[in-house]
Amino acid sequence: MSVLGSQQRLAFHSVRFLWYKCRGEFLERNPMSFRTRCFAAIIVSFVLAAPLFAAEEPPPPYSNPVSANLALTPPMGWNSWNKFGCNVNEDLIKQMGDAMVKSGMKDAGYQYINIDDCWQVSRDKDGNIVPDPQRFPSGIKPVADYIHSLGLKFGIYSDAGSKTCAGRPAGLGHEYQDALKYAAWGVDYLKYDWCNTTTQDPRASYENIRRALDTAGRPIVLSICEWGAAKPWLWGRQVGGNLWRTTGDIHDSWVGKERTRDGACCETGMINILDQQAGLASFAGPGHWNDPDMLEVGNGGMSDTEYRSHFSLWAILAAPLIAGNDLRSMSPEIRDILTNKEVIAVNQDTLGREGVRVARDGDADVWAKQLSDGSRAVVLLNRGSGEMNIAVSWEELGYPDHISAEVRDLWQHKDLGKFTGKVGASVPSHGVVMLTVRP
Ligand code: GLA
Repeated sequence: MSVLGSQQRLAFHSVRFLWYKCRGEFLERNPMSFRTRCFAAIIVSFVLAAPLFAAEEPPPPYSNPVSANLALTPPMGWNSWNKFGCNVNEDLIKQMGDAMVKSGMKDAGYQYINIDDCWQVSRDKDGNIVPDPQRFPSGIKPVADYIHSLGLKFGIYSDAGSKTCAGRPAGLGHEYQDALKYAAWGVDYLKYDWCNTTTQDPRASYENIRRALDTAGRPIVLSICEWGAAKPWLWGRQVGGNLWRTTGDIHDSWVGKERTRDGACCETGMINILDQQAGLASFAGPGHWNDPDMLEVGNGGMSDTEYRSHFSLWAILAAPLIAGNDLRSMSPEIRDILTNKEVIAVNQDTLGREGVRVARDGDADVWAKQLSDGSRAVVLLNRGSGEMNIAVSWEELGYPDHISAEVRDLWQHKDLGKFTGKVGASVPSHGVVMLTVRP
């Protein structure tokens, strides 16, 4: 009975007491009228106790047919922030859509072109949000229409507080009005930030915008960007969030903390963010994902080897794969990383399991993810400064020791043959070997 709360326990024990009393009296005396009264008393106590049981049950998960079935696999797309910050305009966004198609990223599964902060400048006299007339002279709808004409989806950004993180007008008090606008523009994805929210309750604020979006009637992915402070993995799904940031902003570096552009707080290296994901896997699944922030692949702060690690780790974490580089001018190496279909298949596996760290030994990390066909994806990660051998045992993958399994290398695109009990590989400094193990 440990799952019951104190009121529930009291109600349960009262009913049990009555039951034993009745049974005892019944066995001793057996008069029909007494028995009837006694059992009637039990039924009445049940009816009276029922609200107590109901009172302590968790609220039902948010559900609405408009937003049901969104993001059944982790969202894939592009967002302007990591590379361009506030420097966004309508041509840039359209060109990014073109580049997503031309580069093969659309074919590889990327769908969303998302504008982050700084597209908005004010509200008009009726409270309608006004896009920057210099940067978006045609307004937002024609941009969304263009992105849709490419067979892609379109996303936008706002914030639950009074102003966005870049100080632009945000959503507080305008949730339903903004949602109607987004729906009319053809928005498919909303990233909702958490700056300037003072004493607001995160849960209530995010549920409010989800209800507003659904009331507007267009299916819109809701990306909760609360940075993990109020543990959104515990309530994000219940308020209808499809993904929630688990940490502060990513920094385009392997490791370490640095000041943000505005000097406010801490951006975090890729490996620091990775470490903050350990333990969160059970909160992720189809329609609701942990978000360790957008990709930095191709932005120049890490080597190609490190970007390959970044991408592999985000893939095995079932993280949203939102590229953040300039898709128009990426090198062939970066394009090959972002479009590795075998790695993407691990991320997009329909079972929707997030990978977990199954072993950690000094600088050697092993991450594993169960896939829908019963096989496992594995990332052998070398965090150190020299090459090293890293192995994963079948036991760590949840397989009996004696079975043999086909192993495939997802970066070399090569079958490595059959292995029994374990498989290992030499892994370069700051690199990964990514495998599937299929019994
Ligand atoms: C916050 C978010 C970032 C980005 C900026 C925009 O820092 O976490 O991802 O959206 O705001 O101002």
